[in-house]
Amino acid sequence: MTLQLNDPDLLRQQAYVDGQWVDADSGATFPVIDPATGEAIAHVPRMGAAETRRAIEGAERARTAWAGLLAKERARLLRDLADAMLANADDLGTIMTAEQGKPFAEAKAEVAYAASFFEWFGEEAKRVYGETIPAPMPERRIVVLRQPIGVTVGITPWNFPSAMPTRKAAPALAVGCPMVLKPAEQTPLSALAVAVLAERVGIPAGVFSIVTGDAEDAPLIGGEMTSNPIVRKLSFTGSTEVGKLLMEQCSRTVKKVSLELGGNAPFLVFDDADLDDVIAAINVAKYRNAGQTCISANRVLVQDGIHDAFVERMVDLSRTVNVAPGFDPAATIGPLIDEPALAKVARHVEDARARGGEVLVGGGVHEQHGRTFFLPTVITGADMSWQMSNEETFGPVTAVHRFASEAEAVRTANDTPFGLAAYLFTRDHARIWRVGEALDYGMISINTGFISAAEAPFGGVKESGIGREGSHHGIEDFLEMKYLAWAGIRDAG
Ligand code: SIN
Repeated sequence: MTLQLNDPDLLRQQAYVDGQWVDADSGATFPVIDPATGEAIAHVPRMGAAETRRAIEGAERARTAWAGLLAKERARLLRDLADAMLANADDLGTIMTAEQGKPFAEAKAEVAYAASFFEWFGEEAKRVYGETIPAPMPERRIVVLRQPIGVTVGITPWNFPSAMPTRKAAPALAVGCPMVLKPAEQTPLSALAVAVLAERVGIPAGVFSIVTGDAEDAPLIGGEMTSNPIVRKLSFTGSTEVGKLLMEQCSRTVKKVSLELGGNAPFLVFDDADLDDVIAAINVAKYRNAGQTCISANRVLVQDGIHDAFVERMVDLSRTVNVAPGFDPAATIGPLIDEPALAKVARHVEDARARGGEVLVGGGVHEQHGRTFFLPTVITGADMSWQMSNEETFGPVTAVHRFASEAEAVRTANDTPFGLAAYLFTRDHARIWRVGEALDYGMISINTGFISAAEAPFGGVKESGIGREGSHHGIEDFLEMKYLAWAGIRDAG
């Protein structure tokens, strides 16, 4: 399959290591598959520990000069990179739809979201301030510097092939830290295209490297990233299981970690909610990216008085969702990423059926498109014994729970080891405060289904992760504090 690009040079089949476009040492490659067709759209290198080590060593060589630039010089380069991404949004969107499956309009929106991290963090890095603290002795001064942490590594998932790499690389690069990134094996092409643009705008060699590998290579690449003493920080988005393993590996060289892990987002609808707002919000929180986001509504908890009206509207909404290949201009959701994703969604639906859930719409694969094109599905009668109440479904399936009281809703919502995002719909401001404070989640979305922005601190609590991405808090994770104890400041005499 050949992609129609205005600039075919953006589609790369080599990795970008220390400023060079290179193959794997072994020459081996793996195919990148279009989930809509099952066809290979490219082949990229199967790299391992040796190539990763070279990328890290290149980052170390680039580190001092990069950190030594003025913040506004780095900001200028990142602004140029953001502009280059926006100028090439059609091509970047085409690459993304081909490798990930999401509708082209949604892919282009992700490119803009991805570019916004470079713009925002470039500006914010001009405001990395130090501190002076009143000292306990007259001839002393206490000064605190905030300096780049050093060489960093990122490992990113397939659901946001452009925005997850930039959400990690932007704060790192902005404050002066080089980054070596490994994109998901399903979607390496979008990250490689960003590297093409980074090279074009003049980001120096070694500052931003991309190593590629498939599922078998991932432990080798990850192993080098987590064991190499040069690396001072790892930022990972992916499953809780892998996050725990990486954290354990990083502990051996005491690296700083940021982890954005699994979610199991509750979506709470109280009787007094505005149903139009709720439906507009769940259209985003459930159907964006076909439900394949860490913050997708996973347990929809609806109060008795509004339950039936909600279910009716949710079924109507789901019937309007157009499941089609991402390049079809009428598509509102595309295919699931691959067969294992389909198997999980199908297993959750079967489990719900077996436990007495009523499937009101959907429930299986789209007749015409087949493959992994799953139909928008609404199931009622859910409770916490269902598999989909305890695991992220990562698909366009809504399980509706019914609740009676606020206390019951909060208890059910918090009944999980995860704590990434929660959604809350009510017009009662006192309840917004009460429930907002009681929910054990890192992000609470109030009367809206969309919370993602470069300006906001994205991240979770409990087993959903550590640290925040986005906002000035996202920059903190790439800085170290250095205390200068300054003595000998005596009277002039
Ligand atoms: C994610 O699923 O991890 C990211 C979602 C977002 O940034 O909106």
